[in-house]
Amino acid sequence: MKVEEIRKDFPIFQQQVNGHPLVYLDNAATTQRPRQVVEAVMRFYQDANANVHRSVHTMSYRATELYEGARKKIASFINASSWREIVWVRGATEGLNLLAYSLGLYHLREGDEIVLTVMEHHSNMVPWQRIAQLKNLRIVYAGVTPEGRLDIEDLKAKISSRTRLISVIHASNVLGVVNPVGEIAQLARDAGAIFIVDAAQSAPHMPIDVEAMGCDFLVASGHKMLGPTGIGFLYGRRERLEAMEPFQSGGDMIEHVTLEGATWNELPWKFEAGTPNIAGAIGLGAAVDYINNVGLTDMLEHEKELRRYAVERIRELGGVDIYTPDGDDVLGIVSFNIHGIHPHDVAGYLDQCGIEVRSGHHCTQPLMECLRIENAVRASFYLYNTKEEVDRLVEALARVKKLFRV
Ligand SMILES: Cc1ncc(COP(=O)(O)O)c(C=O)c1O
Repeated sequence: MKVEEIRKDFPIFQQQVNGHPLVYLDNAATTQRPRQVVEAVMRFYQDANANVHRSVHTMSYRATELYEGARKKIASFINASSWREIVWVRGATEGLNLLAYSLGLYHLREGDEIVLTVMEHHSNMVPWQRIAQLKNLRIVYAGVTPEGRLDIEDLKAKISSRTRLISVIHASNVLGVVNPVGEIAQLARDAGAIFIVDAAQSAPHMPIDVEAMGCDFLVASGHKMLGPTGIGFLYGRRERLEAMEPFQSGGDMIEHVTLEGATWNELPWKFEAGTPNIAGAIGLGAAVDYINNVGLTDMLEHEKELRRYAVERIRELGGVDIYTPDGDDVLGIVSFNIHGIHPHDVAGYLDQCGIEVRSGHHCTQPLMECLRIENAVRASFYLYNTKEEVDRLVEALARVKKLFRV
């Protein structure tokens, strides 16, 4: 992969931060945007701005064509069998809330069980907890193994005759491990349960094929894959979406309204109430084009290589706990702590050196509890990162250790 060429597409890397060239290693939180994405959004506002689906005028047709064209790009990106299976949402969080409410309120009954894992992001935990409280459902959690992988035997043991739904993170935003979703899909099918995949951390980094995976639903966020903020997508198997009630209601999601009630629009618009994030969807379409041009397989290898190199060099520093396991099933994420230094102090020092990493609980407090920590430092890589940037990270970590005398 020609990383130096790729970096030229990202104007943000031309700047200095705190007197140093920017090293951006917080990609699991949000990625940078190439000018192709920024320009696609700008072109829409400058040349084609109008509301979608509503008007008979030319500009509205133009906007609708771009908006629906972007949906088709997503469908092909994840190998959905139809563009009608792609619902635009604000991001993974809204996709999961849509499912928790539309499925939870109408399809789950008192005593039904939901299987989650302790490594879920809060967005795949809290919506289910709230719906479980409302409907008297039971949530059971599969644990993690001591080396930081999903305990699949525990997950099997947690599935019972009452299991109605299984929702699992595809790749952990802390550990970087990719969970065996194909195997879990089979377990869900055998149990007659709905299977949901949170692909917020996988879709930006590895090829996704929802047909091969066998999931019923999958969610992802555009801003974690070079796209704008405020846009993401929910994939839902057509017959599942057809059988579901809408989430939000209002304009565009209806077929006919009377004073007594309403009927619903066709898929996918039944789930898209109100004026959508048109520019965001178009920008995400441009991001998918960009990723396809570079090639996800090459990106994945590059990011895994950066992770292997970073782990090796951080380990050499000594006095460090690394939570990310080793293995080919781990994406470009390294989470760690330096003995005797609070992660916020590490991240604050790195920022002074122009190096941006995340410190905190990463919206995974139950996982932190399993790891017996409260916080960690996380460096997460993307297609534009380099080994030289990893070297700068490690050199700064060595300096912060000296500064704190640990
Ligand atoms: C695994 C995972 N799921 C869900 C989310 C939520 O994504 P968003 O905040 O874009 O809705 C994140 C964000 O960090 C994540 O890492």
